[in-house]
Amino acid sequence: MSTAISFARGAPCPEALSGDLIASCTAAALDADATRVLSYGTGQGYPPLREVLAHDHGVSPDQVFVTNGSLQGYVFMLEALLSPGDLVAVEAPTYDRALLQLRLHGMEVLPIPVHADGLDVDALAAACAAGRVPKLLYTIPNFQNPSGATLSAAKRTTLLELVDRYGFWLLEDDPYGKLRFEGEPITGLFAAHDGGKVMFTSSFSKTVAPGLRVGYIVAPKDVSATLAAAASRTYISPSLLAEAAIAQLVSGGHLPRNIDHVTALMRERRDAMAGGLVHMPEGTVCTPPQGGFFMWLELPEGLSADALFATAGAAGIAYVKGSDCVLAGGEQTLRLAYSGVSPAEIAEGMERLGTVFRTAQQ
Ligand SMILES: Cc1ncc(COP(=O)(O)O)c(C=O)c1O
Repeated sequence: MSTAISFARGAPCPEALSGDLIASCTAAALDADATRVLSYGTGQGYPPLREVLAHDHGVSPDQVFVTNGSLQGYVFMLEALLSPGDLVAVEAPTYDRALLQLRLHGMEVLPIPVHADGLDVDALAAACAAGRVPKLLYTIPNFQNPSGATLSAAKRTTLLELVDRYGFWLLEDDPYGKLRFEGEPITGLFAAHDGGKVMFTSSFSKTVAPGLRVGYIVAPKDVSATLAAAASRTYISPSLLAEAAIAQLVSGGHLPRNIDHVTALMRERRDAMAGGLVHMPEGTVCTPPQGGFFMWLELPEGLSADALFATAGAAGIAYVKGSDCVLAGGEQTLRLAYSGVSPAEIAEGMERLGTVFRTAQQ
């Protein structure tokens, strides 16, 4: 069999992982603060990193809760704010692990379609007007996982009006927003809202390195304290050395250059994958994203990404089935991550995948 090429993992490619930079930031962290970094800390995370992040977001450090990866923070947030059976609105499709956690926690999921300009805010408004007001909306407004879509500025305004009108919590998950290839950044939901119902979460997994496991949530002070108490009960304190290295990286002014480096690598990969779309069967629908890690494909009528998953695997290609990213249906769709592989592998992988799909169509 030919070498396996994985389009399944939303992870940065090896060239994006700046080992030397992380080594020097780790050494600086130990030089500056070895005793605190090597001891147990508080559940809230490493204080200097909380301060840097608070400054970036224009909030008080008490509002910032730094976690071992942002998925962990999301799970603590679900457990703190919601109860089994609560209604949670999500984009359809959405991040598969976030959806899985909602299912595992017994939440009722309200799927809201995503279009090229992001969440269908009118559909959410209609659900609310019909009495289906969620307790929480979980949304990924920039270069969404898995669709790649970005929520337009106009829809952001309408969405925040809905938060004010109906009083639901909104969690803005934005790990990809800084990895923009073209176009102008759009003001975030948290940044644009002055009420207490909008929370923000992000991660250094995509812009620096997932192995460091540093993510965070910005929430009202009382919520942040509740999350920190859950962290203390679960793992006492997070990995302080990783957080201190990130604090050095950010306060030392290295983050923008690292983001430029990762963005250039991802742009090259997005272009390679967009070029490989010529191999897909006629009628395949895909809007290449303007940033982030993912491309979302809808296959023509009669083709099922679920049914062809094993055949693609036999051809050495892995992808995420769209059906894993929705509550029901989605068999015609799939998510391709270009982030973790080289442009040459992408070119080869798209040709092989196109052959699998076109052969099945005949
Ligand atoms: C939208 C989204 N949120 C959260 C995460 C989890 O990131 P972390 O590595 O910080 O746990 C991911 C990772 O794929 C993601 O795509």
